[in-house]
Amino acid sequence: MNLVLMGLPGAGKGTQAEKIVEHYDIPHISTGDMFRAAIKEGTQLGLKAKSFMDQGELVPDEVTIGIVRERLNKQDCENGFLLDGFPRTVAQAEALESILEDLNKRIDYVINIDVDQSILMERLTGRRICKDCGATYHLVFNPPAQEGGCDKCGGELYQRADDNAETVSTRLSVNVKQSKPLLDFYQEKGYLRNINGNQDINIVFDDVRKLLGGVKQ
Ligand code: AP5
Ligand code: ZN
Repeated sequence: MNLVLMGLPGAGKGTQAEKIVEHYDIPHISTGDMFRAAIKEGTQLGLKAKSFMDQGELVPDEVTIGIVRERLNKQDCENGFLLDGFPRTVAQAEALESILEDLNKRIDYVINIDVDQSILMERLTGRRICKDCGATYHLVFNPPAQEGGCDKCGGELYQRADDNAETVSTRLSVNVKQSKPLLDFYQEKGYLRNINGNQDINIVFDDVRKLLGGVKQ
């Protein structure tokens, strides 16, 4: 199953991705996670991405497309994949069509997690992530059982560098501008499915499962 997960920052892409990849046993490809890992390791890619991410701007298309092409060519994508946070521009979507054509694959669904924009600031500034396993929490909406620690592995929770109010506002305006043409692109291709992301996390996943239930792996 070849899937793309779309949604504004804080819509719940990462949260749903964790559940989808576990349930359907496909690799989770998050460009945001790949950039953050590269920054942590201090690689050339990390150096290129950091200044854009710190400001809430998009990393240039040529950099982003290159890492996705390389990742999709890996063996573990043979039986499917979940792209999270890519594509984010029409140029990236067009590049993805051509990467998949070369691999003789096509997208099954583009799942757009549709949310009311007014809730996103609170979702992002309250987000906390496990340093060790990457699990995502929210101080109010999805708190860990023990304050400051991860339920899954006991790891310490931290706040992402771009989850402060100022950077969040830039991320939201940048992504709102890019998303309409991208949604139109996938609507025209017939891949687009909207899911209501304003519901409880488990109900959103129930809706995703209902949508994907009939798809052959
Ligand atoms: P990226 O890491 O992709 O971040 P983002 O798109 O801003 O999305 P987030 O990860 O912030 O949100 P999410 O939708 O995953 O929400 P989550 O599930 O955590 O990108 C970061 C940066 O990298 C970009 O700004 C850009 O610079 C660069 N980049 C990445 N991809 C790029 C690309 N393709 N091109 C160019 N640049 C790129 O949920 C948020 C919070 O809400 C959590 O605390 C969660 O617990 C809570 N929550 C989730 N669902 C619910 C719910 N249903 N109800 C209540 N709370 C909920
Ligand atoms: Zn953990």
